[in-house]
Amino acid sequence: MTASPLLETVRIDLGERSYPILIGAGLLDQPSTWADLPRAAMALIVTNDTVGPLYVNRLQAALKAHYGQIEVVTLPDGESHKDWQTLNLIFDSLLSKGADRKTVLFALGGGVIGDMTGFAAACYMRGVPFVQVPTTLLSQVDSSVGGKTAINHPIGKNMIGAFYQPHRVVCDLDTLQTLPEREVSAGLAEIIKYGPIADMAFLDWIDANLAALKARDAKALAHAVKRSCEIKAWVVGQDERESGLRAILNFGHTFGHAIEAGLGFGTWLHGEAVGCGMVMAATLSERLGLIDAHFVTRLRDLIARAGLPTVAPDLGVEAYLHHMRVDKKAQAGEIRFVLIDSPGSAIVQGAPDALVAQVVTACCSA
Ligand code: NAD
Ligand code: GLY
Repeated sequence: MTASPLLETVRIDLGERSYPILIGAGLLDQPSTWADLPRAAMALIVTNDTVGPLYVNRLQAALKAHYGQIEVVTLPDGESHKDWQTLNLIFDSLLSKGADRKTVLFALGGGVIGDMTGFAAACYMRGVPFVQVPTTLLSQVDSSVGGKTAINHPIGKNMIGAFYQPHRVVCDLDTLQTLPEREVSAGLAEIIKYGPIADMAFLDWIDANLAALKARDAKALAHAVKRSCEIKAWVVGQDERESGLRAILNFGHTFGHAIEAGLGFGTWLHGEAVGCGMVMAATLSERLGLIDAHFVTRLRDLIARAGLPTVAPDLGVEAYLHHMRVDKKAQAGEIRFVLIDSPGSAIVQGAPDALVAQVVTACCSA
């Protein structure tokens, strides 16, 4: 592993809840990465049985410079474990080890670990500090940033949770080298997302650098993580609790969450569902007359080249409508979609059920 200096810092500006996102190679091992965090007698690292064996010893060693007692809780891996029962293992660990309200939690893993650790930190003794240490591409470009924390309910994705900001996000790009290929593609979905909603120049850059990203070229990954975090910081800085603008970050997620819940959590990866969901949301945007067919074709091709599915699973139209009615954006039973109103710009609005049904049917057989 290379121990090179910090490459970039992106700031999330939220007044007293502001924090930095550190992006670099070899950050995990450097005690300086972890300096100036809230002081505490104990740190608890939350990880899973895949990521722990790869990285927990290194994080423990680096944290020794700052905490007298460092404990680890290892959760079972997988989206299907993003639930109450598994969340409770974090509380069991905190309580049995005598954690107090200053104890700092470190989320070492992908979005599932980050979302659950953040939620545990929001709840334990009504709130303790936590640090995000994202180790997947998806979590470095999206889930570790912005303070959304949650677990799933069998009826709906991320339905139980809290807005709770971390004290720091540490993206060690070296950790991406051990990711399975399928997970790299899943992360690319959330990177691609930022183009149609906010930055077409970034979409052009992704298009031109897709091979380098898939090959995990360090320079390409560093730029993709930085630009994604900058766009997310720009959105979250204006609308932390999603009273408006922040909903655009859910482009592809309304259809995507229906795919995840409909197939059973963990069957398709979150990024795969979002990739296919973006094709469906773009198709709906086109059928509403907002964008042209050329844009949808371009996006579909890019998503396919990223290694993501573009044909939706045939759950049946009724199942899609049913799952989308429990989406958090729904209001009074009306499903609201993130739509592209022109390349690089998104809006949130409803659409007639009949038209949505046509889009679902078309996308299941495309
Ligand atoms: P994940 O956390 O399940 O990680 C994917 C897989 O990669 C897991 O098996 C994990 O153990 C493994 N892994 C992680 N790091 C690794 C590494 N460096 N080397 C080898 N294997 C590694 O999935 P994800 O894609 O990171 O996150 C998806 C989750 O994030 C979903 O639950 C989704 O709802 C959530 N999410 C939240 C937000 C938010 O704003 N909070 C945004 C997007 C997604
Ligand atoms: N991933 C969507 C959000 O953070 O709002």
